[in-house]
Amino acid sequence: MMSELAKRDLAVVWHPYTQMKTAALPIPIVKGEGVYLFTEDGKKFIDAVSSWWVNIHGHSHPYIAEKVFEQLKQLEHVIFAGFTHPQAVTLAENLLSIIPKNQAKIFYSDNGSTAVEVALKMCLQFWANKEEKRTKILAFKNAYHGDTFGAMAVSGRSAFTAPFDSLLFDVEFIDLPNKENLEVLKSKISSLKSDLACFIFEPLVQGASGMLMYEASDLDELLLHCRQENILTIADEVMTGFGRTGKLFASDYLKNKADLMCFSKGLTGGTMPLGITTCKQEIYDAFLSDDNLKTLFHGHSFTANPVACAAANASFDILMKPETLANIHRIEARHKVFKAQIENNPKLKDVRQTGTIIALEWDIEGTSYFNNIRDTLYNFFLEKGIILRPLGNILYIMPPYVISDDDLDYIYQNISLALKTL
Ligand SMILES: Cc1ncc(COP(=O)(O)O)c(C=O)c1O
Repeated sequence: MMSELAKRDLAVVWHPYTQMKTAALPIPIVKGEGVYLFTEDGKKFIDAVSSWWVNIHGHSHPYIAEKVFEQLKQLEHVIFAGFTHPQAVTLAENLLSIIPKNQAKIFYSDNGSTAVEVALKMCLQFWANKEEKRTKILAFKNAYHGDTFGAMAVSGRSAFTAPFDSLLFDVEFIDLPNKENLEVLKSKISSLKSDLACFIFEPLVQGASGMLMYEASDLDELLLHCRQENILTIADEVMTGFGRTGKLFASDYLKNKADLMCFSKGLTGGTMPLGITTCKQEIYDAFLSDDNLKTLFHGHSFTANPVACAAANASFDILMKPETLANIHRIEARHKVFKAQIENNPKLKDVRQTGTIIALEWDIEGTSYFNNIRDTLYNFFLEKGIILRPLGNILYIMPPYVISDDDLDYIYQNISLALKTL
């Protein structure tokens, strides 16, 4: 029977990434607790994808809820041009204390895509302010940096971008680096260098394109080369940040740090929308001028919203507890054991793992996002009370760090069952 809420939803709501003609009705969720989401009729799901990769400490975390409530009673919002507030300043101090030391300034926005837009605008205007004509951007093939126009432009061209491709600015795309192609990539970068404003990348894991993973040492070489060629670099840590890859940031695996960084998703523990772009002092300094036209003219109504900043500060407190890192390492170790158990399964083309992320690539014809296996797997796991949302033929687990060993085992067992029976 169709739930009353689903019926009302269908009448008035348009959902993201959803073909509304053929999609199943949305599942009404009325409560979250830890790794679990509960429907109105009491059915329980394990949120094994952290609700689009945002939730790191579990749902409705009491400590974050308390801090958000306190902040709501104190100050819900204030315009952030000409004004500031304690939560924004504290969050900037907190974040700067844990990200690479070359980062000096924090710029607030609302989500991952806007964090990327701001980083791109900072780089392009950096060169404009210096009166150097550098307008090209370098990115990896298959990258995903968001759904706004600038973020789409620096993402790989795909079925998702197709209706807009003619309107997206030109970007130079290069392959992910490996030992064999590094020299070719470096010489391509050198040949473009006088036009290149910046290079944007997802460090270690390309998320939306199917959890494609690559070596820190190869990325390091590219970053060093970009620095030698005077090309600004942007680490998009929107997905990889806050412990996802086993260290606090994927950039912590690198010797050569990016000039700018983008954060969102886990920043607030997945509680509130918030984006942050950080940059080196040198970039900030290029905007300091008596000429008003050198200002970064960018901002959003909800820039540095105090409630979102309070959630992020609360999430920071939890992130810095030793238990959190211990949980991250526990998940990582358990994923490794599971990987060893399944990696020779003939149904799988590849099994890869970085930190708390494990991805299994089903070996089937036509490996696109729209493959049937995607729906088969998605429905199979929903039946078992597990939310896993495959990217085409790539099934991945990206759980909140508080997931128990028992729940991980339950997910692993059901994946093994899917491998046997589907
Ligand atoms: C690496 C990366 N950058 C940017 C984004 C865009 O973030 P948002 O969906 O918050 O706009 C995403 C979202 O999945 C992402 O994975």
